[in-house]
Amino acid sequence: MTEKRYDIAIIGAGPGGYVAAIKAAQLGKFVALIEKDHLGGTCLNVGCIPTKTLISSGNLLHQIKRAQEFGIQVKETSINYAMMTKRKDDVISTMRKGIDTLIKANKIDLYQGHAEFESPNTLKVLSPANTYIHAEKIILATGSIPFDVKAFPCDHVRILDSTSLLNLQEIPKQLAIIGGGYIGCEFACLFHELGSQVTIIEALPSILSTQGPLISEFMTSTLTKRGISIQTSTKVNGIKASKKDVEISLSSGSIKADYALVAVGRKPFSEGLKLEKAGLKTDEKGFIPVNRFMETPVKGIFAIGDLTGKAMLAHVASHQGIVAAINAAGGEEEAHYEAVPAVIFTTPEVATVGLSEEEAKAKGFKTTVGRIPFSAIGKAQAASETEGFAQIIGDRKTGQILGAIVIGHEASNLIAEMALAIENEIPLECVLQTIHAHPTMAESWHEAAAVALNMPIHLPPRKK
Ligand code: NAI
Repeated sequence: MTEKRYDIAIIGAGPGGYVAAIKAAQLGKFVALIEKDHLGGTCLNVGCIPTKTLISSGNLLHQIKRAQEFGIQVKETSINYAMMTKRKDDVISTMRKGIDTLIKANKIDLYQGHAEFESPNTLKVLSPANTYIHAEKIILATGSIPFDVKAFPCDHVRILDSTSLLNLQEIPKQLAIIGGGYIGCEFACLFHELGSQVTIIEALPSILSTQGPLISEFMTSTLTKRGISIQTSTKVNGIKASKKDVEISLSSGSIKADYALVAVGRKPFSEGLKLEKAGLKTDEKGFIPVNRFMETPVKGIFAIGDLTGKAMLAHVASHQGIVAAINAAGGEEEAHYEAVPAVIFTTPEVATVGLSEEEAKAKGFKTTVGRIPFSAIGKAQAASETEGFAQIIGDRKTGQILGAIVIGHEASNLIAEMALAIENEIPLECVLQTIHAHPTMAESWHEAAAVALNMPIHLPPRKK
C-alpha cells in the first residue's frame, strides 16, 4: 500500500462527486477522487443518460407513428433494439471520456477502487489503487441503489431493477412494472412506445402520488388513454419467476408477464465505508445527516447527493457538490432548495419547480393560479402537441411566483424559466413584461402569468 496526502478527498465520481472535485481543484486545492466503478455514477451509467437516450429513440418512433398527421407517408418502420442499446452505450462512453478529460485538465488524481475510512482523515483505497489517502477534508458522494423488496427480490434475469432492465437484450412483449413513481412511469412510457404491453402496479391509490393530485390525475388519464394498464391500490404479495416469464401474485388476483421491473424507490448507499471509524452514523433510513453547509456532524467530513436524502436528483447532487467543495476549501456557502426543478421524462413530459398550489396554501399564502392549455399556444398547434398545459402559482398579495407546473411538449426545457424566476424572486408582472418569442412553447409562461394576473389575451377573462 502506498500513501498520499491531499487537501480534499472525494468518494464517488457521480454528478455530485466529480463536480465537487472540479470545483475544489478550481479553488486551488489538491484533490483526490475515488471511484470503484465507472466515472459518472448512476446518472451517467445506469440512470438519467441511458434512459433518456433510449427515450429519445422512443420519442422519434412516436413521431414516426404520427407521420401521416404531418402529411408524411412512412411505408415501413422496424425497431433494431440492439442498435438502440448500442447508441445508448456509445453516448455513455462519450460522456465518460468527457469527464475523464475534465478530471485530467483540472489536475485531479483519480483512484480506482473501493474506499473505506481508517480514521476521520484517512481513507484506505483497496485494489487496484491500494493506497492510503490522508486528506484534511473528505466529501462523501456514494449515491444510492435501487430498493430491493424482501418478498420479491430481483434475480436480474426475469425480475429486474432499473439497472438490469437497461441490460436487457430484447424488448419485453409484456412488462409488469411494480411502482408507479418516476422510474416506473418513465420506463412504462418507453416500453409502451417500443411495443410492450405494459402494466403498472402501484400500492398507493394513485401513480406519481408525490407530485400531487393535478399531475397524478392528468398522467393517469393520459397513460391509460395511450394503452398502459394501471392498477392502483394494489399490493404485490410475491413474484414467481420461471425460465420464460414471471407470475405476479397481487392483492386483486395475479398477472403474467415476460419480465417484471421493480421500481419502488432507491436507498442511500454507504455500505462498506466503515463510517464508524470516522465517528459517523447514518439515520434510521440510512441517510447521512448534513447541515446546510453539507457538513456532517463530524467536522471536516461532508456528504452530498442521494446519500443525504434531500432530493434524489442529479442536479441537486451537483449543487450540493459545489457547496461542499467551497466549504471544504474554507468558504461559507449554503445549499438552497427553493427552486429545484424536477422533470419526469414520460410521454408527455412533466416538470415542476417550487411549491404546488396545495403546498403554497398550507404555508399560508393566498394564491393566484394562472393556467394556459397548450391548445391555446400557436407553436403547440403547429407541432401538433396540444396535450398539456403550463401553470404558475403566484402569491396574490405580492405577485411573487411560488411554483410552476408544466405537462407536455418541451416541459423539461420550459421549466428552466420558472426556476430562474423563483430563484431570483421575479414576480408575475416581470414575466408578463418580458417579450417572449413567437411562436414558441415559452409563450405559455407569458400567457399563464397573464391569466394569474387576470388579464389574459389568449383566453377569455375569468368570470367575476
Ligand atoms: P419513487 O419513490 O418515485 O416511486 C416508487 C413508487 O413505488 C411509489 O409510488 C410507491 O408508492 C410505489 N411502491 C412502493 N412499494 C411498492 C410495492 N410493494 N408495490 C407497489 N408499489 C410500490 O421511486 P422510483 O420511481 O424508484 O425512483 C427513485 C428515485 O430516483 C426518485 O426519488 C427520483 O427522484 C429518482 N429519479 C429521478 C428521475 C428524473 O429526475 N427524471 C428519473 C428516475 C428516478
